[in-house]
Amino acid sequence: MKDFNKLCRMLLVVRIVKRIPEETIDNVRSQNDIVDIVSEYVQLKKQGNNYFGLCPFHNEKTPSFSVAEDKQIFHCFGCKKGGNVFTFLMEIEGYSFFESLSHLAEKSGIVLPNIQQTEETQVSPDEKSALAAYEWLTKLYNHILRYSEDGKEALNYLTERGISTETIDQFHIGFSPNIDGFILDFLEKKGFHKQFLIKHGILTLNQQDEAIDRFRGRVIYPIKNHLGKTIAFSARALHGDEPKYLNSSESDLFQKSRLLYNFDLAKRDIRKKQEVILFEGQMDVISAYQSGIENVVATLGSSLTESQAALLKRYVDTVIICYDDDEAGLNASYKAAQLLRKVGCEIKVSHLHDGLDPDSFIKSYGAEAFRDQMIDKSDTFINFYRRFMKKQYEITNESERLEYIRTILKEIAHLNSAMEREHYLQELSTEYHISVDTLLEEMHSFMPEIKQERKELSNVSYDAQPRSYKRKKQLLPRFHNAERKLIAHMLQDKVISDRVQEEISIGFNIDEHKIIATHLYAFYEMNDAANVSQFIEELTDESIKQLVIEIAVNEAHSSISERELEDYITLISRQQNEQTEVESLRMKQKMAEQQNDHLKAAEIAMEILKLQRE
Ligand code: CTP
Ligand code: MN
Repeated sequence: MKDFNKLCRMLLVVRIVKRIPEETIDNVRSQNDIVDIVSEYVQLKKQGNNYFGLCPFHNEKTPSFSVAEDKQIFHCFGCKKGGNVFTFLMEIEGYSFFESLSHLAEKSGIVLPNIQQTEETQVSPDEKSALAAYEWLTKLYNHILRYSEDGKEALNYLTERGISTETIDQFHIGFSPNIDGFILDFLEKKGFHKQFLIKHGILTLNQQDEAIDRFRGRVIYPIKNHLGKTIAFSARALHGDEPKYLNSSESDLFQKSRLLYNFDLAKRDIRKKQEVILFEGQMDVISAYQSGIENVVATLGSSLTESQAALLKRYVDTVIICYDDDEAGLNASYKAAQLLRKVGCEIKVSHLHDGLDPDSFIKSYGAEAFRDQMIDKSDTFINFYRRFMKKQYEITNESERLEYIRTILKEIAHLNSAMEREHYLQELSTEYHISVDTLLEEMHSFMPEIKQERKELSNVSYDAQPRSYKRKKQLLPRFHNAERKLIAHMLQDKVISDRVQEEISIGFNIDEHKIIATHLYAFYEMNDAANVSQFIEELTDESIKQLVIEIAVNEAHSSISERELEDYITLISRQQNEQTEVESLRMKQKMAEQQNDHLKAAEIAMEILKLQRE
């Protein structure tokens, strides 16, 4: 036992030496509940002891991502990723350990000692500088708009559009003055090189080979990533110049198709309301946000992409599409609706009239009316579909009208709820004076087709991941399950671990379990209480770490009786004895074979088989 303790201490020394005091790390960990942090990225629902949601690390339609609140760890049954609150941020944000730590420390108001950070990060130094340049510019543009003579006209324009100075500051709206060399001068003084700024599209070379700001004379809307860092600008012309909007060019930092405007500010409210409102333009977002509707984001003028749809699906079930009331808006709504339905979102569509856009609606009728008429009374998909399809047919023409009705019936046939189907059939019946029975009969003619579609859909499943919440019970030998169960309890309870250490030490049959036990005993030498989240941080072998997480998440949570504990221990030690017995029999068998005593070898083989059967 003495030697064993020495081994434990050695193991601890091997751990990466961290420059931040252990207590500080523990403090940060305990101040940041993993459920809260994960919830900023994943919509979680409680099921029994754990929370479940769609895994942010792989594409899936049914949730296999779980968070154990009591143990402060996460685990995905699908892609097998797992870890604690620090590793979660490292995975999802590409942070280093140090960056995760500082991010969470800042969140909970803990000051980290000022230590030179040497760990490499996923964001390249080049990108870091570009971010810094964007940050300086964001501040400069905003300052010019708010406080300088050059910004007066733009400020008046925004004020006339009903945007308050608080909102201007909240969104860091700015103005780029029409002064030669102004931006270049400013950034060079901050230490940025001209070539660097051109390379990152922050400045552009004109025909005279001068580095100029393309956004001169325009109102600047910073575009931020979901952490609230400016990664591009959208610049609006003041005097009807064309194009109305100019955007920064795409870069590693800025990919328009993967980003939603205002996601950084909206995500909290999106999560709270379990619903998101999707606009086309940033003015719609700003206007709604200012009037207290905060779960609002926008695609920046282009159609919704699959990656944006998937991003929304991670947070919410319901998306309310609220696009301009014009032909382009209607078509875009239809496309967005189909895409969102494909990723599994419930959708609703606001019905704007008179060619309005959300911004002008709020201006004209106020936020209350917007909430009441555009959000609460938004169309279901079928009602939107009817509105959309009506535009595609000449309804006054009888044969076209019938074609239209058939199209709608087909969509109604897709609905799963009989009650909903009946409801829409009633509506159609009233509107077109056709009996419900006739409509029903017509609708049934689509059923074989729909069944076939469904079959094809289920063949090309959206993801190849397990469909069920619950992990299929692994078929493992009894002793193996006993070891997993025992380890799960040891991870939760130091007293049990001490007891197991006394009785079987590292006498587990599975090698990985021996290793886990060794680390765990060492951990309890240094710590008085169980803490899975902290324990896994100290494991350097990735496969062992993942096994610990998997066992902790999957195996029993409730307390264990004395009797069960004894049973597990007995089962494990008996197996241990049998294994030794089998091994010695194998030796004898080999010897018999070498001596050409085939009869004896066969007898021993039978004996081994018998033992293994038991
Ligand atoms: N857009 C763009 N380039 C253009 C026009 C539009 O990138 N030439 C993007 C902008 O992000 C804009 C969105 O598409 O917010 C919607 O366009 P539009 O409806 O024309 O703009 P509004 O939001 O109505 O802007 P404003 O009210 O300032 O005219
Ligand atoms: Mn618009």
